Amino acid sequence: MATIIQTEHLKYAYPADEGEKRTFALRGVDLRIEKGSFVVILGHNGSGKSTLAKTFNGVLLPVGGKVYVEGMDTLDEQLLLAIRQRVGMVFQNPDNQIVANVVEEDVAFAPENLGIPSEEIRRRVDEALRAVGMEEFVRHAPHLLSGGQKQRIAIAGVIAMEPECIVLDEATAMLDPVGRREVLSTIHRLNRDKGITVVLITHHMNEAEEADRVLVMDDGRLVMDGAPREVFTHVDALRSMGLTVPDTVDLLDRLRRDGLDVPLDALRVEACVDAVFTALKKN
Ligand SMILES: Nc1ncnc2c1ncn2[C@@H]1O[C@H](COP(=O)(O)OP(=O)(O)OP(=O)(O)O)[C@@H](O)[C@H]1O
Ligand SMILES: [Mg+2]
Repeated sequence: MATIIQTEHLKYAYPADEGEKRTFALRGVDLRIEKGSFVVILGHNGSGKSTLAKTFNGVLLPVGGKVYVEGMDTLDEQLLLAIRQRVGMVFQNPDNQIVANVVEEDVAFAPENLGIPSEEIRRRVDEALRAVGMEEFVRHAPHLLSGGQKQRIAIAGVIAMEPECIVLDEATAMLDPVGRREVLSTIHRLNRDKGITVVLITHHMNEAEEADRVLVMDDGRLVMDGAPREVFTHVDALRSMGLTVPDTVDLLDRLRRDGLDVPLDALRVEACVDAVFTALKKN
């Protein structure tokens, strides 16, 4: 599989105040994200997730090591525009991402800035709104939409850039359960149908269950990297980092401690039910 994003010994420190020592927010991160994959990044507050995400499209530049986007070095200023077209970002607060008073103008904003011809922009805006299921809202006022709808408009704005990869930094954190479900199913569909690589930063463990891969950050380091059903078996290690585990794994873990012979990696509800049922029958 082709790699879209690669970091090598990546280090980052925010500029320090006068007389203060710089502390590293990223302390040497090596990772590779495959094109077309769905990757979730977990980690406690302050572990470096947002900092890492911002290095993926050159918003933050390494102070040590490298970030490559499709082989392009983010430290090469001449490549920054091309890099930003390939990796789009969606942030937490939907209200901060609205730039226009009409949905279609909002979605057209970024491609217009790239100097793309207007017929092409029309096509991209229509396609992007269709992709997020918001085509009926083309002439609506974005600020009157629900949180989930606003985030889908923000995602459409990124899609209109025709990126290879979308990074969502806690993009569901401010949404109600309905809005979260809307946004999640939208990005899963974009990943499945359009092959767009998705990097999803979240505090919701259940959002990680469907990922191809889960990365766990702790204190500026990448400390776990694997398939969800593998990563979530490290219950004690995750808890010691201040993280929870999905409800299914939590239940299986407690049953194991009570002596029931169930596996820890039955992550999906159906698999978990089967595992418990089988173990009880054996008893
Ligand atoms: N603009 C900034 N200036 C100085 N230090 C910062 C800045 N942004 C983040 N930091 C520090 O960098 C470290 C990593 O922060 P980062 O925001 O990347 O973590 P995070 O995992 O995204 O946390 P959260 O879950 O709270 O969003 C923290 O110690 C944080 O205090
Ligand atoms: Mg963050």
